[in-house]
Amino acid sequence: MRFWLVLCCLAAGSSSFYVAEQDEFHFKSWMAQHNKAYNMKEYYLRLQVFSQNKKRIDKHNQGNHSFTMALNQFSDMTFSEFKEAFLWSEPQNCSATKGNYYGSNGPLPDSIDWRKKGNYITPVKNQGRCGSCWTFSTTGCLESVTAINKGKLVPLSEQQLVDCAQDFNNHGCNGGLPSQAFEYVMYNKGLMTEQDYPYKAVDGACKYKPSLAAAFVKNVMNISAYDEMGMVDAVATHNPVSLAFEVTSDFMQYSQGVYTSTACHNTTDKVNHAVLAVGYGEENGTPYWIVKNSWGPNWGMDGYFLIERGRNMCGLAACSAFPVV
Ligand SMILES: *[C@@H]1O[C@H](CO)[C@@H](O)[C@H](O)[C@H]1NC(C)=O
Ligand SMILES: *[C@@H]1O[C@H](CO)[C@@H](O)[C@H](O)[C@H]1NC(C)=O
Ligand SMILES: *[C@@H]1O[C@H](CO)[C@@H](O)[C@H](O)[C@H]1NC(C)=O
Ligand SMILES: *[C@@H]1O[C@H](CO)[C@@H](O)[C@H](O)[C@H]1NC(C)=O
Repeated sequence: MRFWLVLCCLAAGSSSFYVAEQDEFHFKSWMAQHNKAYNMKEYYLRLQVFSQNKKRIDKHNQGNHSFTMALNQFSDMTFSEFKEAFLWSEPQNCSATKGNYYGSNGPLPDSIDWRKKGNYITPVKNQGRCGSCWTFSTTGCLESVTAINKGKLVPLSEQQLVDCAQDFNNHGCNGGLPSQAFEYVMYNKGLMTEQDYPYKAVDGACKYKPSLAAAFVKNVMNISAYDEMGMVDAVATHNPVSLAFEVTSDFMQYSQGVYTSTACHNTTDKVNHAVLAVGYGEENGTPYWIVKNSWGPNWGMDGYFLIERGRNMCGLAACSAFPVV
C-alpha cells in the first residue's frame, strides 16, 4: 500500500507516475505473455524489479553494442535470484590442467554450423529451476557426437546425470561438469534416453536401468584450459564441444548479436554455466561462437546465443571437453 501512496504523491507534481504507469502496462502484458500470476505483495515487488530490468535493457540498447538485450522469461528476477535458481552456487573443479586433445594443425574453415550440416542437434531444451546446465551440455554434446558417428539422433537423459553421476564430483541441481559427466557415462557403460528417463528438474534417486542404455562413451577428450584454438579445431574437425563460462547480470536479458562483457572474468574459478558450442563464424570482423543454451527455445536467438571468440571471453575456454563414442 505504501507504494501506492508514493505514486499518488508523485502523480500530483511530476511525470514520474506516468513512467510507472507505462511500466505497469508493459509489466501486465509481459505477465500475460509469460503466464505469470502473483499475490498483491509479490506483484509490486516484481513490478519494481521488472522496471529496473527494463530500464537496463533500454539503456543498453541505446548504446553501441555488438548485442541487444530484451525482456524475456527472467525479467521479473534480480540477478542474485537468477543466480540462485539457475547457476552453479559454488565453483566446480574446472581446473587448468593439461588436456589430452591435440589439434589437427591443418587448415580450418572460417565458419561451421553443425545445425546446418545434417540432423545432428536436438531441439533446445529447458533446465527449469535447477543448476543442471552441465547435464544439458553433456547430453547435447553426446547426442551430436553419437549422431555424427552412428547416424542416429536420439535425445538423451539429463535426469540420469542429475540422479546418478555423484561419484564423479557432480552434484545434481547444485552443479557439475560435462567432462566429469562424460567420465560417468564411460564408467557407467551407458546413458538412457530422454524418453526412458525423463527430466524432472529436481534431485532424485538413481533409476538407471543398464538394459535401457542408449548412448555410450569410449573416451573423454579434455581440451587444455585456455586453448581456444583447440576448441576451434575440435569443432571444425570433429563435433560440437561442451564448454563452461561465467554468466554475469548482463547475460540474463541477452537477446541477439555477439555477446561480449567487461563484467565477467576469464579464470577457471568463476565459470558458473555449461553450454554447447555447435559452431563458429565471424560478423563485422568479430569472431564468435554459436552456442546452444538450455533456457528453452524462447530465450536469446531461438535458444542459442553468439559470444565473442578468440580471447577467452568470460572464461569460455577454461574447461571444454567432448566424448569419443
Ligand atoms: C560503434 O562501435 C564500433 C565498434 O566498437 C565502432 O567501430 C563504431 O564506430 C561505433 N559507432 C558509433 C556510432 O559510435
Ligand atoms: C573438487 O575435487 C575434490 C577432490 O576430488 C573434491 O573433494 C571436491 O568435492 C570437488 N569439488 C566439487 C565442487 O565438485
Ligand atoms: C578429463 O577430465 C576429467 C574431469 O575433469 C578427469 O576426470 C579426466 O581424468 C580427464 N581425462 C584426461 C585424459 O585427462
Ligand atoms: C585474462 O585477462 C587478462 C586481463 O585482460 C589478460 O591479461 C590475460 O591474458 C587473460 N588470460 C587468459 C587466460 O585469457
